[in-house]
Amino acid sequence: MLVIKNIQDWLQAHASRESNSTLGFVPTMGALHKGHLSLVDRSHRENDTTIVSIFVNPTQFNDPKDLNGYPQTLEADLSSLENAGVDVVLLPDYNQVYPDDYRYKIIESEFSQKLCGASRPGHFDGVLTIVMKLLNIVQATHAYFGEKDYQQYVLIKEMAEAFFLRTRIVSCPTIREDDGLACSSRNARLKSEERALAPQFYKTLTQKLSMAARKSQLESLGFKVDYLEEFKNRRFGAVYLGKVRLIDNVAI
Ligand code: PAJ
Repeated sequence: MLVIKNIQDWLQAHASRESNSTLGFVPTMGALHKGHLSLVDRSHRENDTTIVSIFVNPTQFNDPKDLNGYPQTLEADLSSLENAGVDVVLLPDYNQVYPDDYRYKIIESEFSQKLCGASRPGHFDGVLTIVMKLLNIVQATHAYFGEKDYQQYVLIKEMAEAFFLRTRIVSCPTIREDDGLACSSRNARLKSEERALAPQFYKTLTQKLSMAARKSQLESLGFKVDYLEEFKNRRFGAVYLGKVRLIDNVAI
């Protein structure tokens, strides 16, 4: 497995690739779990070569405390990627991906303002900008995104269409723990009693209830509800358990 920190090194390696071979790309912020690895597996099955990026993108964190507390587990991440048969890991730093220091941005003006965008101002500007940069650097045939972050996936897919990007954006199903909780790097920050309660979030999203009943059920269980909304044939929710924000969504 090739670990590349310098973008120029990747561009050189990429230039010598056979033009008809396929390249699958999985962008991540590290702290990898089986949700991430399911994207890697899918890419591995569908492409000749798979590249994974790990970059904790500061421009998508509206809360500096969230950024500073973001888990960093690089050694473990590299060994799970190696075990998964990944060919290349891209580990750029801020100055390399933001030579402009974030003066240039990708801004979407409608869907990015709803759901998670309403409570995290600027979040999707940061996501779309870094994904645009990474897609341009990597020049993959396919890029893989999880339905766990469904709003993110839709915005990226529509951005790729809007800007005629050559990479096909592929969505992959949400991977869950046995108790239904969607795998997330943030789950590690739950206290044990919060972790025990967390699966009720997904359960409540899937139950046959009115939206108002769903909200009050979550609140009486001890969740603080950020939003619960139905949109584009899906039901979306974001809740707080203590300081930890969890998101999930289900098809309806
Ligand atoms: P990150 O949270 O590390 O997630 C990387 C990819 O893994 C995303 O496409 C996300 O949807 C997917 N993923 C996370 N948990 C999942 C689960 N339980 N099941 C299936 N897929 C899951 O999302 C980001 O990073 C960043 O915003 C990024 C796109 C890398 C831009 O910085």
